[in-house]
Amino acid sequence: MAGTSRPADPAEARGHVRPASYHESGTVEAWDERYSTRGMVWGTEPNQFLADYAAGLTPRRVLDLGCGQGRNAVWLATQGHRVTGIDQSPVGIEQARRLAADHKVEVLFHVANVVEDWTPPSGAFDLVILSYLQLPPHDRPVAHAKATEAVAPGGTVWLIAHHSDNIADGVGGPPYPEVLFDESALADDFSDLDVLQNEKVYRNVEGKDGLVRAAHDILLVATKPDG
Ligand SMILES: C[S@@+](CC[C@H](N)C(=O)[O-])C[C@H]1O[C@@H](n2cnc3c(N)ncnc32)[C@H](O)[C@@H]1O
Repeated sequence: MAGTSRPADPAEARGHVRPASYHESGTVEAWDERYSTRGMVWGTEPNQFLADYAAGLTPRRVLDLGCGQGRNAVWLATQGHRVTGIDQSPVGIEQARRLAADHKVEVLFHVANVVEDWTPPSGAFDLVILSYLQLPPHDRPVAHAKATEAVAPGGTVWLIAHHSDNIADGVGGPPYPEVLFDESALADDFSDLDVLQNEKVYRNVEGKDGLVRAAHDILLVATKPDG
Protein backbone atom coordinates (compact mmCIF):
# COMPACT_ATOMS: atom_id res chain seq x y z
CA MET A 1 0.00 0.00 0.00
CA ALA A 2 1.39 3.43 -0.99
CA GLY A 3 2.56 5.61 1.86
CA THR A 4 3.15 2.77 4.33
CA SER A 5 6.31 0.84 5.12
CA ARG A 6 4.53 -2.48 5.56
CA PRO A 7 6.37 -5.31 3.81
CA ALA A 8 4.35 -6.62 0.86
CA ASP A 9 5.60 -10.14 1.42
CA PRO A 10 3.64 -11.78 4.27
CA ALA A 11 6.61 -14.02 5.05
CA GLU A 12 8.80 -10.95 5.49
CA ALA A 13 6.18 -9.32 7.71
CA ARG A 14 6.45 -12.40 9.93
CA GLY A 15 10.21 -11.95 10.12
CA HIS A 16 11.09 -14.77 7.73
CA VAL A 17 13.73 -13.20 5.47
CA ARG A 18 15.18 -15.95 3.33
CA PRO A 19 18.80 -16.01 2.14
CA ALA A 20 19.55 -18.56 -0.56
CA SER A 21 19.91 -21.61 1.70
CA TYR A 22 20.47 -22.68 5.28
CA HIS A 23 24.00 -23.67 4.25
CA GLU A 24 24.76 -20.06 3.33
CA SER A 25 22.96 -18.54 6.29
CA GLY A 26 24.76 -20.74 8.83
CA THR A 27 28.38 -20.24 7.83
CA VAL A 28 30.95 -18.43 9.95
CA GLU A 29 31.08 -15.73 7.27
CA ALA A 30 27.32 -15.21 7.36
CA TRP A 31 27.28 -14.94 11.17
CA ASP A 32 30.28 -12.60 11.17
CA GLU A 33 28.56 -10.40 8.60
CA ARG A 34 25.28 -10.38 10.56
CA TYR A 35 27.05 -9.49 13.81
CA SER A 36 29.25 -6.83 12.12
CA THR A 37 26.35 -5.01 10.52
CA ARG A 38 23.39 -5.41 12.87
CA GLY A 39 24.69 -4.47 16.32
CA MET A 40 23.51 -6.64 19.21
CA VAL A 41 21.07 -8.73 17.20
CA TRP A 42 19.01 -9.98 20.17
CA GLY A 43 19.96 -7.18 22.55
CA THR A 44 22.03 -7.53 25.69
CA GLU A 45 19.38 -9.05 27.96
CA PRO A 46 19.20 -12.82 28.46
CA ASN A 47 16.61 -15.02 26.81
CA GLN A 48 13.42 -14.69 28.88
CA PHE A 49 13.05 -18.43 29.48
CA LEU A 50 16.65 -18.70 30.64
CA ALA A 51 16.16 -15.76 33.02
CA ASP A 52 13.09 -17.53 34.46
CA TYR A 53 14.92 -20.84 34.77
CA ALA A 54 18.20 -19.56 36.20
CA ALA A 55 16.94 -16.80 38.53
CA GLY A 56 18.32 -17.60 41.96
CA LEU A 57 20.17 -20.74 40.84
CA THR A 58 23.14 -21.63 43.06
CA PRO A 59 26.40 -20.55 41.36
CA ARG A 60 27.57 -23.26 39.01
CA ARG A 61 30.02 -24.09 36.25
CA VAL A 62 28.09 -23.19 33.11
CA LEU A 63 28.82 -23.83 29.43
CA ASP A 64 27.00 -21.83 26.72
CA LEU A 65 27.24 -23.63 23.36
CA GLY A 66 26.72 -21.30 20.38
CA CYS A 67 26.87 -18.28 22.70
CA GLY A 68 26.77 -15.72 19.86
CA GLN A 69 27.28 -12.18 21.14
CA GLY A 70 27.20 -13.36 24.74
CA ARG A 71 23.90 -12.02 26.11
CA ASN A 72 23.15 -15.23 28.06
CA ALA A 73 26.72 -16.05 29.10
CA VAL A 74 27.34 -12.55 30.43
CA TRP A 75 24.02 -12.44 32.30
CA LEU A 76 24.80 -15.80 33.90
CA ALA A 77 28.20 -14.46 34.96
CA THR A 78 26.52 -11.44 36.58
CA GLN A 79 24.47 -13.97 38.58
CA GLY A 80 27.67 -15.43 40.03
CA HIS A 81 28.16 -18.44 37.74
CA ARG A 82 31.53 -19.45 36.29
CA VAL A 83 30.77 -19.33 32.59
CA THR A 84 32.45 -20.59 29.44
CA GLY A 85 31.01 -19.59 26.06
CA ILE A 86 31.82 -21.13 22.68
CA ASP A 87 30.85 -19.91 19.23
CA GLN A 88 32.18 -20.33 15.70
CA SER A 89 31.94 -16.59 14.95
CA PRO A 90 35.07 -14.57 15.82
CA VAL A 91 33.05 -11.35 15.50
CA GLY A 92 30.37 -12.65 17.88
CA ILE A 93 33.00 -13.74 20.40
CA GLU A 94 34.74 -10.37 20.23
CA GLN A 95 31.41 -8.64 20.92
CA ALA A 96 30.73 -11.09 23.76
CA ARG A 97 34.10 -10.25 25.32
CA ARG A 98 33.26 -6.56 25.13
CA LEU A 99 29.84 -7.18 26.71
CA ALA A 100 31.51 -9.06 29.58
CA ALA A 101 33.98 -6.19 30.06
CA ASP A 102 31.10 -3.68 30.07
CA HIS A 103 29.44 -5.69 32.84
CA LYS A 104 32.75 -6.13 34.68
CA VAL A 105 32.47 -9.92 34.72
CA GLU A 106 34.85 -12.61 33.57
CA VAL A 107 33.69 -15.19 31.05
CA LEU A 108 35.94 -17.64 29.20
CA PHE A 109 35.02 -17.19 25.55
CA HIS A 110 36.41 -19.47 22.81
CA VAL A 111 36.03 -19.49 19.04
CA ALA A 112 35.30 -23.06 17.90
CA ASN A 113 32.93 -25.07 15.75
CA VAL A 114 31.20 -27.24 18.35
CA VAL A 115 30.42 -29.94 15.80
CA GLU A 116 33.69 -30.12 13.90
CA ASP A 117 36.57 -29.07 16.10
CA TRP A 118 35.56 -29.07 19.75
CA THR A 119 36.02 -31.95 22.14
CA PRO A 120 33.78 -31.64 25.19
CA PRO A 121 35.56 -31.91 28.54
CA SER A 122 33.78 -34.86 30.12
CA GLY A 123 31.47 -33.95 33.02
CA ALA A 124 33.09 -30.53 33.46
CA PHE A 125 29.93 -28.41 33.77
CA ASP A 126 26.94 -28.36 36.11
CA LEU A 127 24.79 -26.62 33.53
CA VAL A 128 25.11 -26.67 29.73
CA ILE A 129 22.90 -24.25 27.86
CA LEU A 130 22.05 -24.11 24.15
CA SER A 131 20.09 -21.08 23.00
CA TYR A 132 18.83 -21.15 19.40
CA LEU A 133 21.74 -23.28 18.15
CA GLN A 134 19.80 -24.37 15.04
CA LEU A 135 21.86 -27.04 13.30
CA PRO A 136 20.99 -29.24 10.33
CA PRO A 137 19.88 -32.83 11.03
CA HIS A 138 23.32 -34.43 10.58
CA ASP A 139 25.00 -31.93 12.97
CA ARG A 140 22.28 -31.46 15.59
CA PRO A 141 22.66 -34.86 17.32
CA VAL A 142 26.45 -34.43 17.35
CA ALA A 143 26.22 -31.10 19.17
CA HIS A 144 23.59 -32.46 21.54
CA ALA A 145 25.71 -35.53 22.32
CA LYS A 146 28.64 -33.23 23.12
CA ALA A 147 26.41 -31.18 25.43
CA THR A 148 25.44 -34.43 27.17
CA GLU A 149 29.10 -35.43 27.50
CA ALA A 150 30.09 -32.04 28.94
CA VAL A 151 27.49 -32.06 31.71
CA ALA A 152 28.43 -33.58 35.08
CA PRO A 153 26.40 -36.34 36.77
CA GLY A 154 23.54 -34.56 38.52
CA GLY A 155 23.96 -31.59 36.18
CA THR A 156 21.51 -30.16 33.67
CA VAL A 157 21.23 -29.51 29.96
CA TRP A 158 18.94 -26.54 29.27
CA LEU A 159 17.96 -25.85 25.67
CA ILE A 160 15.76 -23.30 23.91
CA ALA A 161 15.28 -23.32 20.14
CA HIS A 162 12.87 -22.37 17.39
CA HIS A 163 10.25 -25.13 17.09
CA SER A 164 9.53 -26.83 13.74
CA ASP A 165 6.06 -25.26 13.79
CA ASN A 166 7.50 -21.75 13.89
CA ILE A 167 7.75 -21.36 10.11
CA ALA A 168 4.06 -22.01 9.51
CA ASP A 169 2.55 -20.64 12.71
CA GLY A 170 5.11 -18.41 14.42
CA VAL A 171 7.36 -15.46 13.74
CA GLY A 172 11.08 -14.80 13.19
CA GLY A 173 13.72 -17.50 13.31
CA PRO A 174 15.32 -19.32 10.40
CA PRO A 175 12.95 -20.03 7.48
CA TYR A 176 14.54 -23.45 6.83
CA PRO A 177 12.70 -26.55 8.08
CA GLU A 178 16.03 -28.41 7.99
CA VAL A 179 17.39 -26.56 11.03
CA LEU A 180 14.24 -26.58 13.15
CA PHE A 181 13.26 -29.44 15.40
CA ASP A 182 10.57 -30.76 17.67
CA GLU A 183 9.93 -32.73 20.85
CA SER A 184 10.58 -36.09 19.24
CA ALA A 185 14.03 -35.08 17.91
CA LEU A 186 15.01 -33.82 21.35
CA ALA A 187 13.69 -36.95 23.07
CA ASP A 188 15.96 -38.99 20.78
CA ASP A 189 18.99 -36.72 21.17
CA PHE A 190 18.79 -36.60 24.97
CA SER A 191 17.62 -40.15 25.65
CA ASP A 192 20.62 -40.72 28.00
CA LEU A 193 19.35 -37.97 30.30
CA ASP A 194 16.29 -37.71 32.53
CA VAL A 195 14.08 -35.34 30.58
CA LEU A 196 12.13 -33.07 32.96
CA GLN A 197 10.67 -30.73 30.34
CA ASN A 198 10.42 -31.04 26.54
CA GLU A 199 7.63 -28.87 25.23
CA LYS A 200 6.57 -25.99 23.06
CA VAL A 201 6.66 -22.53 24.63
CA TYR A 202 5.62 -19.17 23.20
CA ARG A 203 7.34 -15.78 23.08
CA ASN A 204 5.77 -12.51 21.94
CA VAL A 205 7.69 -10.89 19.06
CA GLU A 206 6.89 -7.71 17.14
CA GLY A 207 7.05 -8.23 13.36
CA LYS A 208 8.30 -5.71 10.82
CA ASP A 209 4.65 -4.76 10.27
CA GLY A 210 4.33 -3.74 13.93
CA LEU A 211 2.02 -6.63 14.84
CA VAL A 212 2.89 -8.77 17.83
CA ARG A 213 2.80 -12.51 17.17
CA ALA A 214 3.79 -15.58 19.16
CA ALA A 215 7.09 -17.21 18.24
CA HIS A 216 6.97 -20.98 18.72
CA ASP A 217 9.98 -22.22 20.67
CA ILE A 218 10.91 -25.57 22.14
CA LEU A 219 12.26 -25.79 25.70
CA LEU A 220 14.13 -28.77 27.09
CA VAL A 221 15.41 -29.31 30.63
CA ALA A 222 17.17 -32.61 31.23
CA THR A 223 19.45 -33.89 33.97
CA LYS A 224 22.25 -36.45 33.87
CA PRO A 225 21.67 -39.40 36.22
CA ASP A 226 23.94 -39.14 39.26
CA GLY A 227 26.23 -42.18 39.38
C1 LIG B 1 20.79 -17.75 16.64
S1 LIG B 1 22.41 -17.48 17.22
C2 LIG B 1 22.13 -17.59 18.98
C3 LIG B 1 23.20 -16.92 19.79
C4 LIG B 1 23.02 -17.00 21.31
N1 LIG B 1 22.97 -18.37 21.78
C5 LIG B 1 21.80 -16.25 21.75
O1 LIG B 1 20.79 -16.88 22.10
O2 LIG B 1 21.86 -15.01 21.75
C6 LIG B 1 23.20 -19.02 16.83
C7 LIG B 1 24.70 -19.01 17.09
O3 LIG B 1 25.18 -20.33 16.89
C8 LIG B 1 26.45 -20.25 16.33
N2 LIG B 1 26.75 -21.52 15.68
C9 LIG B 1 26.07 -22.11 14.66
N3 LIG B 1 26.65 -23.28 14.33
C10 LIG B 1 27.72 -23.42 15.17
C11 LIG B 1 28.71 -24.42 15.32
N4 LIG B 1 28.71 -25.54 14.57
N5 LIG B 1 29.67 -24.23 16.26
C12 LIG B 1 29.67 -23.11 17.03
N6 LIG B 1 28.75 -22.14 16.93
C13 LIG B 1 27.79 -22.29 16.02
C14 LIG B 1 26.36 -19.08 15.37
O4 LIG B 1 27.65 -18.58 15.06
C15 LIG B 1 25.50 -18.12 16.15
O5 LIG B 1 26.29 -17.24 16.91
